[in-house]
Amino acid sequence: MKYLIFGASTGIGKALAEELYQKGHDITLASRRIHLLENIKQNLEGVPNIISCDISQEEQVKQTISYADKQMSGIDIIVINAGVGMNEQILKEELKVIETNVKGFTLAARKAFDYFSNRNKGHVVGITSVARFRGFYPSFAYSASKAYDHIYLEGLRHQAMRENLNIYISEIMPGFIDTPILKNKEELFWVASAQKAANLIIRAINRKANKAFIPGKWWLPAFLLNWLPQKFLVKILP
Ligand SMILES: NC(=O)c1ccc[n+]([C@@H]2O[C@H](COP(=O)([O-])OP(=O)(O)OC[C@H]3O[C@@H](n4cnc5c(N)ncnc54)[C@H](OP(=O)(O)O)[C@@H]3O)[C@@H](O)[C@H]2O)c1
Repeated sequence: MKYLIFGASTGIGKALAEELYQKGHDITLASRRIHLLENIKQNLEGVPNIISCDISQEEQVKQTISYADKQMSGIDIIVINAGVGMNEQILKEELKVIETNVKGFTLAARKAFDYFSNRNKGHVVGITSVARFRGFYPSFAYSASKAYDHIYLEGLRHQAMRENLNIYISEIMPGFIDTPILKNKEELFWVASAQKAANLIIRAINRKANKAFIPGKWWLPAFLLNWLPQKFLVKILP
């Protein structure tokens, strides 16, 4: 299969690139830090196509899709993995989250969908988070951005169904994965490696899942987050 990954320089995106390469897929990797993509390319025998892309810039997203299309003679699956967390609870950080996780996500998802719509086939994969279920201190702008991504993907799936398009939309909801985005790892539980996450994501993509928790056991915390009253959540969350 021919994959384009937005946000492939570190963490889950990098692990996905490595696992897909091992499995013999064609891959195009897009991120802002091109030197990191160059390192990945070198380690993977020069095989992946790489391109510098800031997902929050419409022209760059457009150019990235058209580059991947040319390099691989078509794209089957577009993974929107690019995302940022928050370092401080200040407005500046919240706006950064919105710029990437909301504006950037929308640009990539819309352009991916339109690309596939013109061909009446394809698969859009969005990486959201278990954090999307509730707004809780301290990083509720992040949770809100992922809730937006969830609803947006649901909307795209609705559009594909209404227009009878042969396009799949998958929402991937990771729990805690050991990557640079994760702070205070030692205080967290069920932290999985990026490689394990990548393998589980590929399995979810292969079965064209509408939604998948990564790893699967995160359905339980998600269920609790969804249903517990806020006054209990305040007591049990760190
Ligand atoms: N790790 C977890 O525990 C966890 C849990 C739930 C959800 N997630 C989600 O999983 C996804 C991957 O995160 P990660 O854990 O692998 O963290 P990460 O290692 O920090 O990776 C984030 C990736 O996004 C890219 N990115 C950020 N801003 C971008 C922009 N404006 N344009 C293009 N690319 C951009 C980064 O590349 P450049 O900086 O080079 O552009 C990097 O490749 C994110 O959407 C994150 O929210 C992670």
